[in-house]
Amino acid sequence: MIGQQLPASTLDGLLGNWSTDAGPAYRVLADRLRLLIADGRIMPGARLPSERELTDALGVSRTTVASAYRELRDRGYLVSRRGSGSVTALPSKVGPELGRHHAPGIDTEGLYDFTCAAPAAVPGISTAVAAASTQLPVHLATPGYHPQGLPELRAEVAAMYDDRGLPTSPDQIIITAGALAATSIAIRAFTQIGDRVLTESPTHPNSVDAIRRSGCRVVAAPMSPGGWDLPLLEATIRQTAPRAAWMVVDFQNPTGWLMPAAERQQLATAFARSRTTAIIDETLGELWLDGQEMPPPFAAYHPEGVITVGSVSKSYWGGLRIGWMRVPSSLVARVLDARASLDLGAPVLDQLVVAELLRDRATLLPERRADLARRRDALAAAVSSELPDWRFELPGGGLSLWCELPEPVGSSLVGVAQRNGVLVVAGSRFSPDGGLESFIRLPYTLEPDALRDGVRQLAASYRSLTGTQSNPGFTPAMIA
Ligand SMILES: Cc1ncc(COP(=O)(O)O)c(C=O)c1O
Repeated sequence: MIGQQLPASTLDGLLGNWSTDAGPAYRVLADRLRLLIADGRIMPGARLPSERELTDALGVSRTTVASAYRELRDRGYLVSRRGSGSVTALPSKVGPELGRHHAPGIDTEGLYDFTCAAPAAVPGISTAVAAASTQLPVHLATPGYHPQGLPELRAEVAAMYDDRGLPTSPDQIIITAGALAATSIAIRAFTQIGDRVLTESPTHPNSVDAIRRSGCRVVAAPMSPGGWDLPLLEATIRQTAPRAAWMVVDFQNPTGWLMPAAERQQLATAFARSRTTAIIDETLGELWLDGQEMPPPFAAYHPEGVITVGSVSKSYWGGLRIGWMRVPSSLVARVLDARASLDLGAPVLDQLVVAELLRDRATLLPERRADLARRRDALAAAVSSELPDWRFELPGGGLSLWCELPEPVGSSLVGVAQRNGVLVVAGSRFSPDGGLESFIRLPYTLEPDALRDGVRQLAASYRSLTGTQSNPGFTPAMIA
């Protein structure tokens, strides 16, 4: 991407419909470009069109473009050198305003933070930590390296799959530093540079980034308003023969859809036919909130071709940084080999803690679900009353509402809301290919009172924006 020349017509398309109702045209243009750069939709190092070319393409005055470029230069988003034009950059110090390295809980004090679909820890963590500490001395007498994970934790994870009707040996489980790390390892093990990888759109952005940064080409199949579009997926698999697919079938982030058993069967058959390795992220699978029966894990439909990714980040606590892969026995050695150059295992103490938590799952998870259901219902009620023209399907589980706005103002709303004390992520951040400007994801991980107050502030921001566009702002790089 470094040095890539961005044609004026491409940039015009990326800018979309930007209007100058919200302030001086140069500032709106500069803000819009800043968002695209911070969002990763224009890569650092890309060469922007000359002022004259962009002036012609956008039909604005030369002064507008020159002033916008000047503002971007002043803020560190553009470097202009004689002979090489204007090249995009990321400021060396990106503050919380843009949050390229935003982490939950950092620099968000006093703000309603709707950017993170990961709840606080379950109450049982301290007890589990105390119990794990008593087991640590045995491990202190060893080097502490466990590239596949501690046997006792692998046994607990395998038992969870057994409980769901998918017989699993602890030898098929590989413990990782979270689900995202598991996805990165799987992509490394089963793809090569240039391979196509099928994903949904919208989907979890950091996982898409991980796939792209491994050198793969992402083929994104749009979700339909009611879930997965099976005929479209089957046609895409037939036409593109992707080497791998990465999909989230349990309460998909961000849409909240749960793939029914029959669709799992149909899709698994399509993957088997095209010899596509299916990497299936079931990180949110424990978070069913309405007492419904869960379909079998995806791997039950194609045991030899599916890599399952799981994690305790959403069900217990993200701060533990523990996830796993369930791998067909014949592929375990290949995955461990691919992992060896990334990391050499997950922390022992955290694995001991997670083993304790999983042993206690019959108590801890119902409490987690009841708490999340209360928050989900509070958020849904608040959105329905404060933002009646926003549409969403109440998800049966997971962690967020995927809201459709009547107008494509998602990115603009992010900026206005930020100034009103509310942090949200624009729907476009969840699209591998851009677009989805009419969507906003709202996680229900805050306390119900905070959810209600935050939505009230968000609604005020939305009203102030309605019929206008405003300046885009905060876009976190890390999306949970
Ligand atoms: C579908 C999905 N996969 C992976 C992750 C990352 O999980 P982890 O914190 O275990 O790396 C998230 C959320 O952050 C997610 O929603």
